[in-house]
Amino acid sequence: MRAIAVSEYGATPAPMNLPRPEPRPGEILVKMIAAGLNPLDWKVADGMLKDSADAEFPLILGRDGAGVVDEVGEGVTRLRHGEQVYGCFLDVERGTGSFAEYAVVPEDGPVARMPDGMIYTQAAAVPTAGTTALTMMETAGVAEGQAVLVVGATGGVGQALVQLAAREGAKVIATARADMAGTVRRLGADETVDHTAGDLNRQVLEVHSDGIDAVLDVVSDTGATEGIAQLLRPGGVYVSTTWSVNPDAMEAQGLRGVNVEVEPSAELLDRLSELIDAGELRVSIEREVPLEDAPDALAGNRAGGARGKTVIRV
Ligand SMILES: NC(=O)c1ccc[n+]([C@@H]2O[C@H](COP(=O)([O-])OP(=O)(O)OC[C@H]3O[C@@H](n4cnc5c(N)ncnc54)[C@H](OP(=O)(O)O)[C@@H]3O)[C@@H](O)[C@H]2O)c1
Repeated sequence: MRAIAVSEYGATPAPMNLPRPEPRPGEILVKMIAAGLNPLDWKVADGMLKDSADAEFPLILGRDGAGVVDEVGEGVTRLRHGEQVYGCFLDVERGTGSFAEYAVVPEDGPVARMPDGMIYTQAAAVPTAGTTALTMMETAGVAEGQAVLVVGATGGVGQALVQLAAREGAKVIATARADMAGTVRRLGADETVDHTAGDLNRQVLEVHSDGIDAVLDVVSDTGATEGIAQLLRPGGVYVSTTWSVNPDAMEAQGLRGVNVEVEPSAELLDRLSELIDAGELRVSIEREVPLEDAPDALAGNRAGGARGKTVIRV
């Protein structure tokens, strides 16, 4: 089968002909129709997981995907041949991932039936960004009337965060370059601040002079986080996906700081399916590319400037 893989950590991702994985007992084999691209994919290629798992090379990249159950392993009961599923398919130790014609996943792993009426390219864009946004919202405990700053609001996780926070009735302030301000407002942001146009804190304080209640941040490093945290009122919460928060230092300032490491699951995916079915969560696809062009798409995401999700048509 065709797949996008690396021959070692640090190598340039490339199209390869690799054997189709066989489903083991309890696993399903999925014929991939579309795969979703995340920053995690090029981070994995760089060696992000090298200390936590023994990888099999060539290592097929890609975590998110959507497709059709092609074969079920012994003992599989929840999912059947022919069902449309979406979820997370990366298994570094086995060298398998979603940027391939076929991928495997345990049926009790992070895989669920696709939302009704959703097409494969949209479903493939949901798993990592959607489960991350849901987890961040719950960790922060965002509530009606709170002022919430979303940092990184124009990317995959950020666009989902804006919608989920607005749905809770929060006052959402979203970071966006000028050309993306309209997009995040349509998703539910009440205000936008341009992170490329001067001091972020000053821009937020112009509208919220007495501070804000929560920061949901998917981009800042530790230094930037310390600065943005100054916007929080006593008792405020800062949630980061980039491990930029020092929880003890925040606690000493009367704040709560949390670094999230999201574990996608069938349960989280089912909750996303419900939100999508109810029209409460939309996915914005920035571009679709064929499988052979995935290496260029990975390089593009690394360069920054995401304006929605990139999806790979397998
Ligand atoms: N810990 C976890 O479990 C977990 C889970 C999921 C994701 N993540 C991480 O979370 C991060 C975001 O993921 P994603 O999928 O949303 O990425 P993405 O789709 O590539 O989007 C990132 C967005 O951030 C914006 N941005 C960059 N620098 C910014 C800044 N200084 N201020 C405000 N916005 C800025 C970018 O727009 P511009 O370039 O136009 O500014 C882009 O729209 C990645 O590092 C990913 O690895 C972690």
